[in-house]
Amino acid sequence: MDKDAPIGVFDSGVGGLTVAREIIRQIPNERIVYFGDTARLPYGTKSKDTIIRYSRQIVNFLTNEGVKAIVVACNTASAYALEEIKDEIKVPIIGVVKPGARTAVSVTKNKRIGIIATEGTINSGLYTKVIKEQDSTIEVIGKACPLLVSLVEEGWLHDDITDQIVARYLEELKEADVDTLVLGCTHFPLLRSSVGNVMGEGVNLVNPAYETALELKRLLAEKQLANVKEVDSPSLMYRFYVSDAAEKFKNIANMILPFDIKTTKQINIEE
Ligand code: DGL
Repeated sequence: MDKDAPIGVFDSGVGGLTVAREIIRQIPNERIVYFGDTARLPYGTKSKDTIIRYSRQIVNFLTNEGVKAIVVACNTASAYALEEIKDEIKVPIIGVVKPGARTAVSVTKNKRIGIIATEGTINSGLYTKVIKEQDSTIEVIGKACPLLVSLVEEGWLHDDITDQIVARYLEELKEADVDTLVLGCTHFPLLRSSVGNVMGEGVNLVNPAYETALELKRLLAEKQLANVKEVDSPSLMYRFYVSDAAEKFKNIANMILPFDIKTTKQINIEE
């Protein structure tokens, strides 16, 4: 496998860019092909079978693009589809749930961890399972926050309405006295300030993207796949694809990434 080949990263929409951003920060030598499934978002309310089917199509697209590794930058797809598809492909593939769960276990002091995520991720029980495997005495309180995905896709990152909805969703977790809260949907780190204001300074906010990028770095080194070439300009390093609304994606991406995206290409992922 060519060390100069890109990393495939995918999500249902713009949320996975929070993971791409962290990969760019931690391993700037790596090229990225990003796919946002904007035509079929949200993933969080769909069934496991549907998420597996969607993920399989995207993984096929990314492998045809010649990627050397894949990051499932979507908690819902990581929870529902990763185990199913990992043995079907030749390139290494990692998700965001396990790295996020590991970080939460390492930072909690009172052993009370909150998870905010999509309905799918909460219903899968994967965060709870991975956390309990590491320390069965930890209490895990999950809360599905589906509306937050739409608010982020709409670009309402700093908005009174968003703050009110965040506060309503988090009431239960505040009462549950968690000292650690996992932002268990890749869209949610974009609402970090709003979530932080509600939870207060004493609560650790865990963004699984950080540990995921570290895990990717370790994996590339272990498989001798790390890119050693000089970093090019962003237009050569990163390619962005979506299944719909390319212009809207580009505008929000430009709020998230440290550079402006010039083009986003729309493709038919079902073909
Ligand atoms: N950003 C995705 C996640 O991490 C899913 C959001 C959605 O499409 O519902 O779960």
